[in-house]
Amino acid sequence: KQIAIGIDIGGTNTKFGLVNHRGEILAKGSIKTEEYKEVEDFIDALYTNIKPLIDEASHNTTLDGIGVGAPNANYFKGTIELAPNLPWKGVVPFAELMKEKFGVPCKMTNDANAAALGEMMFGAARGMKDFIMITLGTGVGSGIISGGNLIYGHDGFAGELGHTIVKPGGRKHWSTGSEGSLEAYASATGIAITAKKFRAEFPDSMLNQYPEESINSKTVFECAEKGDPTAIEVFRYTGQKLGEALANFVMFSSPEAILLFGGVIKAGDFLLKPAKLHMERNLLPIFRSKVKLVFSELDEADAAILGASALVWENK
Ligand code: BGC
Ligand code: NA
Repeated sequence: KQIAIGIDIGGTNTKFGLVNHRGEILAKGSIKTEEYKEVEDFIDALYTNIKPLIDEASHNTTLDGIGVGAPNANYFKGTIELAPNLPWKGVVPFAELMKEKFGVPCKMTNDANAAALGEMMFGAARGMKDFIMITLGTGVGSGIISGGNLIYGHDGFAGELGHTIVKPGGRKHWSTGSEGSLEAYASATGIAITAKKFRAEFPDSMLNQYPEESINSKTVFECAEKGDPTAIEVFRYTGQKLGEALANFVMFSSPEAILLFGGVIKAGDFLLKPAKLHMERNLLPIFRSKVKLVFSELDEADAAILGASALVWENK
């Protein structure tokens, strides 16, 4: 029996799983990305956590390799390059370092690309040949599947839709310095910024009952559920920005569906409804009422773990 390891590196958490050929996750775990300022320490921690899982499963099994999804990952080179929400600076030869540590081949792709692959093989995008995966977490990522394949482009970085501009001259990105990117508004980080702004304008808002550091998409959701108009407005505003961006993406590539994935989708209809409204409103009529806008079907992170692990068996 052959197994692979799938790893999903996020700005906040890194999740990993042991996966078999049928796409079953046999064991999984996670570590906190932010805690490892040096990539070597991060890889050591991965090894310490994953090795026992391999040993336990290694009865009659062989580990074929490791697949990794990561922000700013380059599929062609196996590198992570200048990732805005990761602690490691510069160009990191991640696949090579992993191979040295684990002694098996390692392949990489962008984290959102991995989620798209996983969803295409095992989730809500089964049977689809043209769709866009948008991941809403610490950052905003995307995987664009066209004609059944991921778009990589010339340099391997295609699909950085989180950094497209939704409001020219708008909010400055904390890391890249760009002005008005989708990520600056629709990521968990962006939502927290919006919430802090809005609560200052509305002293009556429930959001003012929290200390500064606990304002995040989760607490905003709690307040929205309790009916706080300011919290609801935070998601409406976010959903509008997202929907406007999605309209652009639809007109660019004519997908069958757009899948939303990541921690932020816990906001549910507070986010989905305005996103749909503003996507439809801004579409050219030939596209209207045609593109499905849905949430990922797989458990959080599972899509990315599965998609990443599939890299191991790709072209084999
Ligand atoms: C990165 C992407 C990544 C996304 C989600 C963005 O800031 O540029 O590569 O997919 O965050 O992690
Ligand atoms: Na991508």
